[in-house]
Amino acid sequence: MSLIKISQLSKENILLLFNYTKKYIKSPKPNVFIKLMFKDLQLENKILVTAFFEPSTRTQLSFESAMLRLGGKVLRFNKENSSIKKGETFTDTIKTLENYGDILVIRHSENGILDTISNITHKPVINGGDGSGEHPTQALLDLFCIWLKFGNDFVNKTIVLYGDCSNSRTIASLSKLLDLFNIKYYYLAYPGRYKINNYSNIALEYLKDINPDVIYCTRMQNERTEGCNIPRDMIINQEFIEKHISNEKIKNNEFLLLHPLPRNEEIDSSIDKMLYSGYFKAMDYSVYLRSMIICFMLNNTFDL
Ligand code: CP
Repeated sequence: MSLIKISQLSKENILLLFNYTKKYIKSPKPNVFIKLMFKDLQLENKILVTAFFEPSTRTQLSFESAMLRLGGKVLRFNKENSSIKKGETFTDTIKTLENYGDILVIRHSENGILDTISNITHKPVINGGDGSGEHPTQALLDLFCIWLKFGNDFVNKTIVLYGDCSNSRTIASLSKLLDLFNIKYYYLAYPGRYKINNYSNIALEYLKDINPDVIYCTRMQNERTEGCNIPRDMIINQEFIEKHISNEKIKNNEFLLLHPLPRNEEIDSSIDKMLYSGYFKAMDYSVYLRSMIICFMLNNTFDL
C-alpha cells in the first residue's frame, strides 16, 4: 500500500516508526540493526524510484541517500529528459516506472494527484509532496523532532504553525498529525496567508501570551500564488525571540524552532547556531526517518 496522506496513519504506527528511528540513530552498527529488524527484506535486491515533477533538494536526496545507506539501489526519473517530451501521458509514464523499481517516491504540483497515481500502479508509492495538499514524510519528520526533544510529554506542548498557513503543504500535514495526537496548536500567518475558516488564527501581539514550546516556521509559497513581502517584525531573529519567547524557556532549552526548509528571509541565519534552532539537525534525522519509512513500507509494517 501507498503512503499518500496523514489520515492513513495511526498513533501506534507513528510511535513505532519514531521508536525504531531513534534506535536506528543511536545504533553503533546501523546496518546490523536493519538486518535484525527486517530480516526478510533483502534490501540489496530492492530499487527505489524517485520521480519529482516539482523541484526538490531535501526530500529527493534524503530518500535516495536513505535507500543507498540501506544497501538498496536508486533510479532517478528526470522529466526533462524523458518521453514526456515526446507526448507520453502521465498515466503511461507511471505505468512504465513501476516496472523498474519496488517502491516509488513522487512529487507533483497538482493537489490530490498522488491518490490517482497510487491507483494507477501496483507498487507502493510515497507522497513526496502534492501542490499545497500534503507532505506526509516531512510532517512525520517535524513531529519526530518534537517527540525527540520533549519525549512522551510532547503531547502537552503548544505549537505555533507560522507563516504561509494557507499554502504550506507541510503545515497542512503537520496540523493533521497534531490533531491525531490532540496537541494544542495555533496558526500565526503572514498577511493574507491565514488558515481560512479556522478559529485558531492568532495575531503576533498574542504570541507571548500563547507561550509556545515550538514555532514551526514556513516560507512564503510564492510559486503557488502571487508573492508578497513578509513584514519586518515577522522575520525571526534574535530580537524576535527576545520579544516573543519566554526567557525561561530559552534558558532551560525548552523551546524549539523548526522549518521544513528551503528558507528565504523568514529566519535570519544569525540564529542558526542557537540551541533552539532545530531545522538543520532535522535534515540529519531525515535520512534515518526516511530509511525507516522505506523499510516499513516494503515490510508492510504500517497498517495502510
Ligand atoms: N522540506 C522539503 O520538502 O524540502 P525540498 O523541497 O528541498 O524537498
